[in-house]
Amino acid sequence: MELELSQFYRVLAPRTTIIITTINQKGEINAAPFSFTMPVSVNPPLLAVASAPTHHTYQNLQESGEFVVNLPGEEILEQLWITGESFPEGVNELEKAGLTNEDSLIVDAPGIKECVARLECKVVSDRECGDHQLVVGEVVRVDTRDDILVEGLLHVERSKPVLHLGGKDFVVGDHRKRLD
Ligand SMILES: Cc1cc2nc3c(=O)[nH]c(=O)nc-3n(C[C@H](O)[C@H](O)[C@H](O)COP(=O)(O)O)c2cc1C
Repeated sequence: MELELSQFYRVLAPRTTIIITTINQKGEINAAPFSFTMPVSVNPPLLAVASAPTHHTYQNLQESGEFVVNLPGEEILEQLWITGESFPEGVNELEKAGLTNEDSLIVDAPGIKECVARLECKVVSDRECGDHQLVVGEVVRVDTRDDILVEGLLHVERSKPVLHLGGKDFVVGDHRKRLD
């Protein structure tokens, strides 16, 4: 069957879902989920994220040049969804979702304590890409929960990464999960 072109990305799924934390010029924390993301270079360590230009996350990325990529597990899927709701600028989605910010070591934006891994990043490039901005960040520090890497591979049964299918549909581990 032929699919509407605008739906092409539904085929490229399920996608690893992260929560990006940033701060604005006043130091206020922002958090939002993203699934248009991928590693793009090993040396130097670079990753890319596509953000709608209207997102507070994008504004903060532009202003501060920094962000943290947080890897959530299934345990905080409901909270992840709350961070994706639309709140006015300056509202801390972590507080709204009942998540805890944890100081980063290199960048000013905090990470999320409940996430299984945190990647501190500095923006190295930002270009318009259709209706999104393609932001590339250099990873400057990575912290993980002690038990989630085994022989260099992510232990998915322990970390339970959240993969986005679309809308409220996710894949977690080997099963599909729809939020109410
Ligand atoms: C699972 C999930 C994945 C998402 N992925 C993206 C994405 O890759 N790019 C994007 O621009 N928005 C994405 N969004 C939408 C933003 O997270 C959402 O619009 C959020 O409110 C933006 O918050 P902000 O304005 O505080 O940055 C996603 C939402 C969800 C729930």
